[in-house]
Amino acid sequence: MNTPTTVQDLFALYDAKGQEHYGEFVTQTEHALQCAALARASGASDALIAAALLHDVGHLVSDVQGTDRYRFDEDDDGHDALGARVLSPILGAAVAQPVALHVTAKRWRCTREPSYHEQLSPASRATLKAQGGLLSEEECRRFEAHPGFANALALRSWDDTAKVAGLLVGDLRDYEELVTGLADAR
Ligand SMILES: [Fe+2]
Repeated sequence: MNTPTTVQDLFALYDAKGQEHYGEFVTQTEHALQCAALARASGASDALIAAALLHDVGHLVSDVQGTDRYRFDEDDDGHDALGARVLSPILGAAVAQPVALHVTAKRWRCTREPSYHEQLSPASRATLKAQGGLLSEEECRRFEAHPGFANALALRSWDDTAKVAGLLVGDLRDYEELVTGLADAR
């Protein structure tokens, strides 16, 4: 496992592995850039834009999806927690927390809004079970009371939309100054 410890490492990881398939019709880098562009267009903070850009870094670090033995409906690479653990020491909690919660946000929305579950992409529906499935009522309430609830849901909505095949929105380097600024401010 190749764990980034600096902003340069993060960008190098996307340079090296960003062309890998996201499990849908977009690459990791296309997905990351589309997600960050949606965050920016929504007027999100720099930290939330960085979270949108880097929310799936855990997939790249664990690097098990796409291998022969990996099954989307049975296996979970824990990319939410792993991504947050990677990002927290580099960029801080404001970036790491929405990343940590973006799978819980999906589970919460599937629980509270059955129609949301129906319209998820095939890969996202397949992974739900392995990610723990629906939440209990108590888990829903605890999540709704979490201070990171709103940002996690916002990130989730961009994540769901950022899957447009062949749409390359800008370049990773467009975000280097923003991400470096967040690291330097720590
Ligand atoms: Fe994603």
